[in-house]
Amino acid sequence: MQRFTRTTVGPKSTRCFTTSKNEIRRSYLYVPSSSNKLLEKSLTVKSDIIIYDLEDSVSPAPADKADARDRLRTFLKRKDLPHAERVAIRLNDISTPFFQQDIQHILQSPSVRTLILPKIHSPQDLHYVSRHIHQISQNHPRETPLRIVPSIESARALWNLGAIAGWQSEHGALQGGAVSGLLFAAEDYCADTSIIRTRSRQELLYTRSQIAIAAKAFGLEAIDMVCIHYKDLEYLKDECEDGRRLGFSGKQAIHPAQVETIQNTFVPTAEEILRAAKILHGMQVAHASQKGAIGLDGEMIDAPMIKQAAKIVEIAKEAGIEIPQIN
Ligand code: COA
Ligand code: MG
Repeated sequence: MQRFTRTTVGPKSTRCFTTSKNEIRRSYLYVPSSSNKLLEKSLTVKSDIIIYDLEDSVSPAPADKADARDRLRTFLKRKDLPHAERVAIRLNDISTPFFQQDIQHILQSPSVRTLILPKIHSPQDLHYVSRHIHQISQNHPRETPLRIVPSIESARALWNLGAIAGWQSEHGALQGGAVSGLLFAAEDYCADTSIIRTRSRQELLYTRSQIAIAAKAFGLEAIDMVCIHYKDLEYLKDECEDGRRLGFSGKQAIHPAQVETIQNTFVPTAEEILRAAKILHGMQVAHASQKGAIGLDGEMIDAPMIKQAAKIVEIAKEAGIEIPQIN
């Protein structure tokens, strides 16, 4: 996917991540760092990304926060961890007494290449985090920029969305980190805004659309909300399809059982791939005979559909799906 290879959103917007082949980031599974059993279990789960959590899945008692942090630090020293590109850590938010210790300890591990930052409300919050990253990088230099994923969970964050998505560190990406995605935390957002959750999700459509589009504007990943009905995989599938239609590239999970549905949904369907292959072939033939538009199965196809089709084929290839040959 071309999510990190963008240069077209203004002079200061060039991002620093390159997408390696077969790097696909559809599912983000939270694992509470307070539990040895769940940490151990995370090693067997095939989620694209695993988020080791220090925030809300851990009890707020200071002793429990410290215990989870220590547990995670020890865990991150293991040799059998998932590949570093698959590991993310969610810290406690910057307004808590836990943030400073969290970031100090966690960034000492070379396995940490992605931070999920809860309750980011403004670019100033990112500057604050970035100063810590910069300071820690003096003793622990990085080879690649730290990926920062701000979690959008307040009215203020939504109001400041463009500035958050387009934020750049005053210390440069390598020493100060760079935003790689936007993540939507629906439950906290509802708590902040008094939005009342329904099964229809209609009340969140505006916000989810805004987040997905802001992410696209800055070439970022767009990570959709958690489906808390973790026993209802049909409901999850419907929510995944809905998120994908809105432009999200992936989704958070809270239970291993959700991972497969998310991974299978955040890829093009067989029908979409076949149609895309037909469009690319049909338009090649059309252009060769000086035509800019064709009819395909009763639909008019022209230049923008080539772009859509090319994206579908690209994502399918990344997911290892074979593209049918059209002659
Ligand atoms: N990560 C890793 N393993 C997990 C897991 C997770 N998030 N959630 C469940 N598992 C494991 C269980 O340990 C269990 O393993 P076992 O078969 O070896 O015993 C297996 O998956 C099945 O778990 P299950 O009994 O169905 O779940 P539960 O009822 O014990 O727990 C939750 C349900 C929702 C409390 C639990 O999934 C969880 O804590 N999820 C994360 C919550 C979170 O991170 N919230 C903050 C982000 S919004
Ligand atoms: Mg939350």
